[in-house]
Amino acid sequence: MDKRIIVALDVKEKKKAIDIAESLSDIVFAFKINWPLVLYSSPEVIGEISQYGKVICDFKVADIPYTNSLITERVRDLGAWGIISHSFLGEESLKSVVNAAKGMHVFSVVAMSHPGSDMINSNAMQLMKLSIECGVYGFVAPANKIDDLRMIRSATDRVIISPGIGAQGGDPYTAVLNGSDYLIVGRSVYESDKPELEVSKLQQTAERAIEDR
Ligand code: C5P
Repeated sequence: MDKRIIVALDVKEKKKAIDIAESLSDIVFAFKINWPLVLYSSPEVIGEISQYGKVICDFKVADIPYTNSLITERVRDLGAWGIISHSFLGEESLKSVVNAAKGMHVFSVVAMSHPGSDMINSNAMQLMKLSIECGVYGFVAPANKIDDLRMIRSATDRVIISPGIGAQGGDPYTAVLNGSDYLIVGRSVYESDKPELEVSKLQQTAERAIEDR
């Protein structure tokens, strides 16, 4: 069975991020790096974590096309497998990310997981249409907002990666049953005494949900 868990390494200490990545290297689909880890260490952490698996940079790119291109090129050069971009900036901005990615996998945010995300989530269908036209590889859709997730799944057969599990209240079984391909999990894993056990349990749950679809 495919590995289904993406671990979000939102820790401040680089050593902790690397230790977790090393210990989970064989059992996760990928690692997700967000601004906190980069700002507390350095951009080179992207390449260092890449030694233990695929790295998706969750930089939620949202700028003018030229700036987006510079960010994306640098992320690719540092060794990332994927990059997460916002889509609400419009076609030219998102296309600049896809073009600069040159084979790196681009995931488009079309809905968020936090309270108060209705402004973006209510436009998810329009953002999806635009993202598909721009040629993104996949989507970020919330595991803790099942109606939004189901709607997004019904509009695409591309890959969906979903944050919002555990600390944000989402249930892993329900998320995968309703269309999520990969679960993004941060605090429930890196704050656990036994991150490996936590990932294994999430993986088993995801496998059960796929069988039950
Ligand atoms: O600790 P937790 O499992 O809540 O971490 C979720 C990760 O996914 C964080 O890095 C967060 O920034 C990111 N994320 C999210 N919701 C989105 C998009 C990204 O929680 N809609």
